[in-house]
Amino acid sequence: MNIILVGFMGTGKTVVAQALARKLKMKYVDLDDVIEADAGRPINKIFAESGENHFRYLEKQAAKKISSLDKQVIATGGGVVLDKQNVENLKKNGMMVCLTATPEAIYSRVKDQQSRPLLNVDKPQEAIKRLLDTRQPYYARADFTIDTSGLTVEQAVNKIVKLLT
Ligand code: S3P
Repeated sequence: MNIILVGFMGTGKTVVAQALARKLKMKYVDLDDVIEADAGRPINKIFAESGENHFRYLEKQAAKKISSLDKQVIATGGGVVLDKQNVENLKKNGMMVCLTATPEAIYSRVKDQQSRPLLNVDKPQEAIKRLLDTRQPYYARADFTIDTSGLTVEQAVNKIVKLLT
């Protein structure tokens, strides 16, 4: 069985998944890393050269591939839940936990990073609010939700571990 972390950009999926994997002695896999390795290009380049639709196609292939793995803590990209089949594939063999955070916490975590094409825009705070709104029903497809706004990585990890017992 896998543990799959979904949620908006900047909610802490990567750091929490890494710490959780260490604690549970499970393997850690990052869906964005798999996409980049398979495509041989960073996500920024995939978006810039081939567009978001192509990125979503690659994301779907990668989600399918890693769904067949076992005993992995999987950190996903913030948009993976937009595709119903991705959610079904990932949930088939695992527990899906959604990490959330306030728009303010998200902005302060992502504002100095240029690696996210969807937030590399004139008004990132507005983009965050708009995307959070439209994606809310999709994130609700997770089995559990944890708000990471005021939590340390360790606290978030402990909350997920409790869900397992
Ligand atoms: C995206 C989130 C990113 C990455 C891509 C698209 C999204 O991953 O997959 O830039 O649509 O929310 P993180 O959530 O790890 O930043």
